[in-house]
Amino acid sequence: MEKILEVNDLHVTFSTYGGTVKAVRGVNFHLNKGETLAIVGESGCGKSVASNAIMRLIPDPPGKISGGSILFNGRDLTKLSDKEMRRIRGVDISMIFQDPMTALNPTLTIGSQLMEGLRQHHKISSDHAKKKALEMMDLVGIPNPEERLKQYPHQFSGGMRQRIVIAMALICEPELLIADEPTTALDVTIQAQILELFEKIQAGTGVSIILITHDLGVVAKIADRIAVMYAGKIIEVGTKREIFYEQEHPYTKGLLKSVPRLDLKGEKLTPIDGTPPDLFSPPQGCPFTARCPMAMEVCDKVYPFSSELSDTHHVDCWLQDERAKQLLAEAAAK
Ligand SMILES: Nc1ncnc2c1ncn2[C@@H]1O[C@H](COP(=O)(O)OP(=O)(O)OP(=O)(O)O)[C@@H](O)[C@H]1O
Ligand SMILES: [Mg+2]
Repeated sequence: MEKILEVNDLHVTFSTYGGTVKAVRGVNFHLNKGETLAIVGESGCGKSVASNAIMRLIPDPPGKISGGSILFNGRDLTKLSDKEMRRIRGVDISMIFQDPMTALNPTLTIGSQLMEGLRQHHKISSDHAKKKALEMMDLVGIPNPEERLKQYPHQFSGGMRQRIVIAMALICEPELLIADEPTTALDVTIQAQILELFEKIQAGTGVSIILITHDLGVVAKIADRIAVMYAGKIIEVGTKREIFYEQEHPYTKGLLKSVPRLDLKGEKLTPIDGTPPDLFSPPQGCPFTARCPMAMEVCDKVYPFSSELSDTHHVDCWLQDERAKQLLAEAAAK
């Protein structure tokens, strides 16, 4: 499979008065062409910072990509000039930001906002731009697009505004779409419609998608693969099947136990006790140790190796070490 994106050992830090926040601490992942990778994890684990880094939208100062590489179609985005990056942003890589309601300008019509991006990057006539805008409105399911183009954001409902934001992100036909919590602000029915819309658009355009969410229910539907993030690291990655049915990291297990499931009626939801570590001085070992029901002495001291459970399934956990496995097997036999 062809890789469109490859993130290697990415580090992002923020210098603040209180010290340096290590928001992303050596993250590795890739995205295949045409697939959807979901990045999940609790609030503050670094999902938005990691995705903003791909767009090179980390405010510097106080932020900085302090290490690693981000290969997009083989080109390292961390090495590009601001000018080169502007040519890629919105055209080859597009992003739907976490707060969609602020993504639209209240003083401009939807039509002019949709066409603006297009005309900025492509030399096309206003007739052509309008035609394209109408097509996009249609694709994202906005009825009466001719009329709607002339209206302002406040004349649209929240769900419709979100569809417009998606249309804006897709109008230049990007190869990669990064959607940061695109449905969090919406109610459940609209959420489902938007997710279906992503599937439909992907089937039609072949766009590769990184979907960021803290909601595993959302990813159950549309992700191909899932990366689980904790305290600035990806601690487990696998296909949707592997993460939902064969997950090995105690944090992933905890995360899944805290999600309601239709097939397990009556089972209690268990929240994960405790809070993630402080990212000013994260522990040198596994950051989940303090909350982990299976923690061993080594966990706190040394960060685990990445274990390869299959070609697609990788987990950073000492329980995967042969010695720990043997101890666990012995304990189970007693
Ligand atoms: N501009 C900034 N200055 C200082 N620290 C920052 C800045 N932006 C982000 N951080 C820190 O980086 C860490 C990761 O934040 P990030 O926004 O990526 O979390 P997230 O996983 O997207 O969470 P959420 O689910 O709440 O959106 C947090 O500890 C946050 O406080
Ligand atoms: Mg975020």
